[in-house]
Amino acid sequence: MTRLELRDVRKSFGALEVLAGVSLDVGAGEFVSILGPSGAGKSTLFQLLTGALKGEGSMRFDGAPLDDHGARFAFMPQRDALMPWRRVIDNATLGLEVQGLSRRAARQRVAPLFAGFGLAGFERAWPAELSGGMRQRAALLRTVVQQRDMLLLDEPFGALDALTRAAMQRWLETMWQGNRWTALLITHDVREAVLLSDRIYVLSARPARVVSEVAVPLPRPRTESAALAREAAAIEAGILDTLLGQPIPISRSSDGELK
Ligand SMILES: Nc1ncnc2c1ncn2[C@@H]1O[C@H](COP(=O)(O)OP(=O)(O)O)[C@@H](O)[C@H]1O
Ligand SMILES: [Mg+2]
Repeated sequence: MTRLELRDVRKSFGALEVLAGVSLDVGAGEFVSILGPSGAGKSTLFQLLTGALKGEGSMRFDGAPLDDHGARFAFMPQRDALMPWRRVIDNATLGLEVQGLSRRAARQRVAPLFAGFGLAGFERAWPAELSGGMRQRAALLRTVVQQRDMLLLDEPFGALDALTRAAMQRWLETMWQGNRWTALLITHDVREAVLLSDRIYVLSARPARVVSEVAVPLPRPRTESAALAREAAAIEAGILDTLLGQPIPISRSSDGELK
């Protein structure tokens, strides 16, 4: 079942054309990535989804025009995810408090999740006392606890060192397998997109449009075997060729198999 459906979504800032007509779908329980170069317009697309910006084109959710933006999406922004003056638990409750829950009720909702997010014992810590990976898990906890229809994750691991990023990607894949959130992830990391996604939309440089849609029909978890790693590497190579303007060696046949 299709949840999010974008058709020919466009956005310009004055003379600067950023989105030149983006069309994409996200199904229920699907993990979809938007992969594109920096400055392409990826974050702008999320701002259109959350209603922070207005654009043109069609945005539909569950078959109806998307007008109640805030109620649909739990959004994890690219920067400034945690407020440094709030303790970790009070950062985690923020989205729920915005929804109208009392802080006490919100704390009761988030507290049991700390262990699964690798944050047990850090409820009363300040964000500055956490490692980069822990901060991102706290931001993700705050996002998923809102129990919206869909997660929007804007380069959640972009600022982490390579090793922490790899650990976080594996952790997110495990969490997603357990929860089957409907998720749309922005990234410029090809490997991250292939590891996490059911499907990937590859965007051109600005003004952005979809240049390729790539299915990733690999079993999960994706980090298990060398054979899987080789298949993933082949998909990555195909996407890199697309991004770098080479012929596309990967296409999807009608039965969904990668060729
Ligand atoms: N509010 C804004 N006003 C003017 N230009 C903007 C605004 N937001 C983003 N841009 C410009 O739009 C382009 C795309 O930005 P962005 O969506 O952040 O790219 P990405 O997330 O893909 O790196 C950039 O050139 C950026 O400078
Ligand atoms: Mg961005």
